[in-house]
Amino acid sequence: MAFDIARIRAAYPALTEGFVHFDGAGGTQTAAGVIDAVTDVMRAAVGNRSAAFEPGRRSLELVAAARSAVADLLGAEPDGVVLGPSATALTYTLARTLGAGWRPGDEVVVSRLDHDANVRPWVQAAEAAGATVRWAEFDRHTGELPTGQYADLVGERTRLVAVTAGSNAIGTVPDVPAIAKIAHSVGALVCVDGVHSVPHGPTDLASLGADVLVTSAYKWSGPHLAAMVADPARWAALRPAKLVPSADAAPDRFEYGTPSFALLAGVTAAVDHLAGLDPDAVGDRRARLRAGLAAAQAHEEALLDRLLAGLAARPAITVYGSPARRCPTVSFRVAGMSPAATQQALGDAGFCLSSGDYYAYEYFQTMGLRDSGGAVRASIYHYNTADEVDRLLAELDAVADRTGTMAR
Ligand SMILES: Cc1ncc(COP(=O)(O)O)c(C=O)c1O
Repeated sequence: MAFDIARIRAAYPALTEGFVHFDGAGGTQTAAGVIDAVTDVMRAAVGNRSAAFEPGRRSLELVAAARSAVADLLGAEPDGVVLGPSATALTYTLARTLGAGWRPGDEVVVSRLDHDANVRPWVQAAEAAGATVRWAEFDRHTGELPTGQYADLVGERTRLVAVTAGSNAIGTVPDVPAIAKIAHSVGALVCVDGVHSVPHGPTDLASLGADVLVTSAYKWSGPHLAAMVADPARWAALRPAKLVPSADAAPDRFEYGTPSFALLAGVTAAVDHLAGLDPDAVGDRRARLRAGLAAAQAHEEALLDRLLAGLAARPAITVYGSPARRCPTVSFRVAGMSPAATQQALGDAGFCLSSGDYYAYEYFQTMGLRDSGGAVRASIYHYNTADEVDRLLAELDAVADRTGTMAR
């Protein structure tokens, strides 16, 4: 299918404002169907969950629909979907719950490629339990996360391996299935951060080998809510800290407080939006999600190639990492300019990009770049166009010309 970019862009009201968004990794714009779904719920009679009256039944249905939508997105079961305010909050809940069962001498493996949300909760839970933290290192030149090291990192006492399915800093897609296989050979649990990867292609919990997978809806056209998925049997075996009267059944017992029912309608609508990216796709929602996200992936990869070629042709630009498999996310610096100054200059011209470490704290620390401002990040999403890539490259030239730094 040819990706009908005009049709796609028309589904995002915010794009009419004219900003150029290369900040999807920090949060995408919201699809119209999501906005409508959220406002519809806010305008309707919706009560707290109760089977006794219609508005109460509606909120029960909103929760069930969101679980089922996220399950379709990730290849999970609805009863395996824990919903929550953010990936960070959910990972902390899981880390505290699992950590309560760790003992001194147990080991936890984290990676220096990960966003801190899939590092610090595990490190702190390990510290609290007296467990040992072991670090997987990335290759500083390629930005790859070599799989081979995991054979040395895991052992009989490894309880958990936490790893990203896509780096939010430089895009690297590690070989998670191979890492999971090594972890499972010693009975360790595999917790995968899918926050950056899920928006950029089809995802399947089982093929990844993930025991737990985390995703955030605001990175895929939805509202600021997140989900953590696993086999329902996994949740049934875990007892998080919780209020005495709150639901005791899994997955509900992992969810704190009253859910945001309106935003949950937005999560469902965002999944439906992704399932409609390929209008020719047929089959159930999971099949249409696969087709739509595969089409988006092909479109994003073409834009990534164009961006990387353009950046490579500019000698004053340094791009960090060259991983073979990657999400459409690039970190770079312009010679003679701080990342914040580059970001500001681009921002003044209407281009939205992040700068700094974007919480990929260990990556930028290891690279020795963090203290001097990290990098600038261009992250592509399916509503971006080739013209926007060209305009970004031209604007980088203009920015550098103004400061006299660019050797073209
Ligand atoms: C790879 C990755 N993991 C985790 C997070 C944290 O997500 P949340 O904001 O939902 O806590 C982010 C946010 O940028 C991210 O990019």
